[in-house]
Amino acid sequence: MREDFPLYSSEEKDTIYLDSACQTLRPRHVIEAMDEYYYQYPACGGRSVHRLATQVSIKIDDAREKIAKFLGASRPEEIIFTKNCTEALNLVAKGLPLKRNDVVITTDIEHNSNHVPWIQVQKEKGIGRRFVVTPKSGLFDLEEFKRKISSDVKVVSIVHINNVTGTTSPIEEIAEIAHDKGAIVVVDGAQAAPHQEINLEILGADFYAISMHKMLGPSGMGVLYGKMELLKDLEPLVSGGGGVRLTDFDHAELLSPPDRFEAGLANYAGIIGSGAAVDYLTNIGMDEVREHDLALNERATSIMKDIEGLSIIHPLEARHRSSILPFNIKGMSSHDVAMIVDEIGKIMIRSGMHCVHPFFTSRKIDGCARASFYIYNTLEECDRFAEVVGEVASKFSM
Ligand SMILES: Cc1ncc(COP(=O)(O)O)c(C=O)c1O
Repeated sequence: MREDFPLYSSEEKDTIYLDSACQTLRPRHVIEAMDEYYYQYPACGGRSVHRLATQVSIKIDDAREKIAKFLGASRPEEIIFTKNCTEALNLVAKGLPLKRNDVVITTDIEHNSNHVPWIQVQKEKGIGRRFVVTPKSGLFDLEEFKRKISSDVKVVSIVHINNVTGTTSPIEEIAEIAHDKGAIVVVDGAQAAPHQEINLEILGADFYAISMHKMLGPSGMGVLYGKMELLKDLEPLVSGGGGVRLTDFDHAELLSPPDRFEAGLANYAGIIGSGAAVDYLTNIGMDEVREHDLALNERATSIMKDIEGLSIIHPLEARHRSSILPFNIKGMSSHDVAMIVDEIGKIMIRSGMHCVHPFFTSRKIDGCARASFYIYNTLEECDRFAEVVGEVASKFSM
């Protein structure tokens, strides 16, 4: 399968790419699907009626159907294309009909994309906010959530798999409790959809946001799933051409979802490439993906937990951390760690606060180094990564 990824047959084939939580590599299948658009039918969809445009429209419908099926959504019209997961989460936060004193619950370990929009809504509309605080174990505290929820809570907006700790929030239980209180559930699925099967019918989320570039898709593509009855009351973030049925000088009649949320000419190659990415993952099987990622994380963790001067951010057990391995080396900044492992071993990892600033500032940590694994990584790469990190720790740890 590695042969499907051009990096591994390029001059850079000895690169060990462990930054997939930021953005994954793309298989030829996805690149070729996008090329096909640019080479064979580079027109706009949903507007013109000529044959090239019709071909684009059919491809867009196909991609929407594939993604709906991949997520277990009941209708393709519940799938909205966005430019990333951030835009999808902004669309929900800013488009919901929230009023002063309505309360929104998030956690203390949200990515800025599910944090900053709520700060803005708080300022603009006067909503209240509560946070589910994560205990030292790093695991989601359902009892704490039950204590925080009450009937004035209108939205629970929570990350599915966290991009620093790798922990999974129990969305099914959260949704059941939230729905009992009359709140809707928004899920940031950016790190979950790439690594495990998502069945929205079972999960019970009302909105689910994902990032295609974290799951083999093109850069700058995201998707928002929303239940149709809620989409009808959601205000578009962007409005204009392609989103409306008819306008006069004072009024605009919006099209039905999803079109009303996709005004302006779209990233057609990106949408088509997203459909191809989902095809590729479906062919492998998401259970297979999940097991592989976990095996890689377990291998690297089992070696790295014994490195002197190295600490893994909780939870320690790889089985709780999906494909994420966050760590620090005593006395070193995470950026130095990332630059040195690249220098010594051509290993690409991420460093810093990973857009989860409150997690780090509230714990008084400067950041961490983070390896994230995906389908194209091997156990040998994990061994080499752990070996290089061990070398760095033994030379530079203080
Ligand atoms: C948990 C989580 N949510 C949201 C995002 C933002 O995703 P995007 O870059 O698609 O906006 C990220 C990106 O790292 C993430 O890890």
